[in-house]
Amino acid sequence: MPDPQPGSRGTLLATGAAGFIGSHVAVMAMQAGWRVVILDDLSNSSRDSVDRISALGGAQVELVQGDLCDAAVLDRAFALGPIDAVLHFAALRFPVESVHRPAAYYRVNVGGSAALCEAMERHGTRRLVFSSSCSVYGQPPVIPVPETCPRAPLTPYGATKAVGEDLFEAAATALSWSVFNLRYFNPVGAHPSHELGEAPRTITNLVPVVMEVAMGERDSLVVYGREHGTPDGSCIRDYIHVMDLAEAHMVALGATADSSGCRSYNVGTGRGYSVLEVVEAARRATGHAIPLTTGPARPEDVAEVVADSSLIQQELGWRATRSLDDMLVDSVGWRRRWAQR
Ligand SMILES: NC(=O)c1ccc[n+]([C@@H]2O[C@H](COP(=O)([O-])OP(=O)(O)OC[C@H]3O[C@@H](n4cnc5c(N)ncnc54)[C@H](O)[C@@H]3O)[C@@H](O)[C@H]2O)c1
Repeated sequence: MPDPQPGSRGTLLATGAAGFIGSHVAVMAMQAGWRVVILDDLSNSSRDSVDRISALGGAQVELVQGDLCDAAVLDRAFALGPIDAVLHFAALRFPVESVHRPAAYYRVNVGGSAALCEAMERHGTRRLVFSSSCSVYGQPPVIPVPETCPRAPLTPYGATKAVGEDLFEAAATALSWSVFNLRYFNPVGAHPSHELGEAPRTITNLVPVVMEVAMGERDSLVVYGREHGTPDGSCIRDYIHVMDLAEAHMVALGATADSSGCRSYNVGTGRGYSVLEVVEAARRATGHAIPLTTGPARPEDVAEVVADSSLIQQELGWRATRSLDDMLVDSVGWRRRWAQR
């Protein structure tokens, strides 16, 4: 089948898509025939990333550089439309940092989402996919956690995501919008071209830090707590390849076309890995030893969070297909490409 013409599917506004996850989704959407407008203040990304999205997506992405919280910036982005649907990635996104900077997290993640809602209303756009997070669950009482589990976030970051979900659900009800809240578990990996990935300056997430140790840029990895009550004592998370996550967005985006109301889905693999298992996979992928030290458990770290992702599989037909080794191999490929720049 010939490639779809750029823009033949319509126009997407993707907030925060110069960043890690949004960049992968933007490329996939462009390859599927969407025109993509990115609104991003580049506070945690770069213009270079936008250029790489254009190159991989096969068309020029339009960037509106500015703050999501600013109605005039939003109006500039919507004026490039008509905008058929919005993918809302822009946010501050570090749970530990949010404990120390709660006001900034509420301003961007809640204030920005409210500003986006008002702009969608002004411009008549009714389809939205929102980047939520497993942080809304805190330490869930049931593993794997289903969507029906009450939300009980433990950090300001998780709380802002729960408020975002509520806001978009209320808008869907009041305005007959179609909204999908995707609760991502732990996205890692990179684009198979190794031209896109998670910025190495993301120093508080496990995989970027492991990569720094493997590249010899850091002496050792600190494992925070070895007495979490898990089989090897380290925290367990549900890691998902960013390309699987991007595919989930495409499926949800398609579903917004012929539905209304609000749905929330877990997006994970359903399989948890401990910090020590991730380190071992990184050793396999890099061929380097990863020296470890043990630090005190951090109060924000819950012991185990793994998704029950059966709902999105049943209702939208999506499931993750890539393994932990795939994630680490692509993370290494991206990190090596980055080091050559
Ligand atoms: N990466 C994860 O582990 C993870 C897990 C769960 C949910 N999420 C959510 O997914 C989304 C994307 O995360 P990511 O990992 O790609 O993060 P990222 O930081 O790489 O991307 C976010 C983008 O938003 C932009 N941005 C931040 N504040 C802005 C503002 N005020 N105005 C305009 N742009 C702004 C940044 O410059 C960046 O390009 C976020 O909403 C995040 O909360 C991420």
